[in-house]
Amino acid sequence: MTPNRDDYRESGLTFPAGFLFGSATAAYQIEGAATEDGRGPSIWDTFSRTPGKVWNGDTGDVADDHYHRLEADLDLMSELGLEAYRFSIAWPRIQPTGRGPANPKGLDFYSRLVDGLLARGITPVATLYHWDLPQALEDEGGWTDRRTAYAFADYARIVGEALGDRVAVWTTLNEPWCSAYLGYGSGAHAPGRTDGAAALAAVHHLNLAHGLAVQELRQVVTNAPQYAITLNFHVLRGAGDGGEEAVRRIDALANRAFTGPLLRGEYPADLLKDTAGVTDWSFVHEGDLAVIHQPLDLLGVNYYSTTTVRLWDGASPRQSNDGHKDMGGSPWPGADQVEFVEQAGPYTDMGWNIDPGGLEELLLHLRAEFPGQALIITENGAAFPDELTVEADGTRAVHDAQRADYLRRHFVAAHRALQSGVDLRGYFVWSLMDNFEWGYGYSKRFGIVHVDYDTLRRTPKDSAHWYRDLITGRTIPALSVDSLG
Ligand code: FCB
Repeated sequence: MTPNRDDYRESGLTFPAGFLFGSATAAYQIEGAATEDGRGPSIWDTFSRTPGKVWNGDTGDVADDHYHRLEADLDLMSELGLEAYRFSIAWPRIQPTGRGPANPKGLDFYSRLVDGLLARGITPVATLYHWDLPQALEDEGGWTDRRTAYAFADYARIVGEALGDRVAVWTTLNEPWCSAYLGYGSGAHAPGRTDGAAALAAVHHLNLAHGLAVQELRQVVTNAPQYAITLNFHVLRGAGDGGEEAVRRIDALANRAFTGPLLRGEYPADLLKDTAGVTDWSFVHEGDLAVIHQPLDLLGVNYYSTTTVRLWDGASPRQSNDGHKDMGGSPWPGADQVEFVEQAGPYTDMGWNIDPGGLEELLLHLRAEFPGQALIITENGAAFPDELTVEADGTRAVHDAQRADYLRRHFVAAHRALQSGVDLRGYFVWSLMDNFEWGYGYSKRFGIVHVDYDTLRRTPKDSAHWYRDLITGRTIPALSVDSLG
């Protein structure tokens, strides 16, 4: 790669006071202790144990063993200077079968986590659902069944009653796009179903679950938190004749299927029309849209890369690489005539293209679409094949210049959006530490802290030191472009 010094590589840009610098993780990806203290099985336990679903047969049984290393990990966050920490709560730790009374040991873990953050001056940002549905609920139909949304509301109430005096930001769902379309459409994620109609029903029940959960939380919390949801927006570019039409179709499924009901109180008419051959949407009941359309204090934005689409000519082999694993099914119900064009590099270890301009474009687009809606970047980061070096004196280091450069360029993009007047409140780097990367198991390292999976020892990478300098100075630190090679 030939780095261009002017390409989102300015240093010395300062972030305003109050802009929150954090890092993010998710329960199944880091906790381990999969069968301890009453935790029930989730769909990811089942999926990861199913041969052929996850790279190398990896599971989250041990993961980073964060469950047992809570205090040390909290100290690590403090040493890195984090101002906020975005974690997720494992529903099956709270309600092992997804229904019924709370498991006190499960609540106790998250209560200690929140207290530990507050004691260190770190703002707790809790996500209620980062993909680990209790298996017992999946056995009843999972997100294709309306009752799951109501079960989620009960779970939200339980957690709100326990932590609703201390959590600063409640995020209901992480990336419902992935839960619905990868879980029920393509089969790349748990529960691994491949049914377009099921995926669209899941979209709606996830949206409904969000609305119901916010209503429940508002009733039980005793502090004054902010309410949020995190979406993985697809930044789309069209190619060739019909590129615009291809963008419209994928935008409807990927973005507007969520922002429509959440922020406008309606499903886009073109989405309903495009998918009429897949489902009649009769799972949308009267009153649902009003429930889903809750005022949001923050809209969470996850951003990694961009997507280019065009209309398929019907003759040449159809390109379907949209950056996710191909497990047989389609994550794009009703869009068989769209193909995904190979993106120009450079790429991260996920094969995702690096394009900080896409983040700036997305933030400006969201401001234009939803004026007055405050935004927060809930995930951004990169996987690279890191190497741990151990010096003669025993000093351990990971010289991850590419990750630091990726982050620096995306922070510049965020800063440019701020300069253009976008109401952006903070930025969470994905991820605090290397972890279980879903279908890719432990083969992809996203952490700013390295985890040795034999010893579980943590080693902050160069990117973590760079980030600490950014947080301390509130100014994007210089980074030698030459170190990128
Ligand atoms: C997002 C997920 C997160 C992590 C990153 C790389 O889609 O929310 O858990 O896997 O991608």
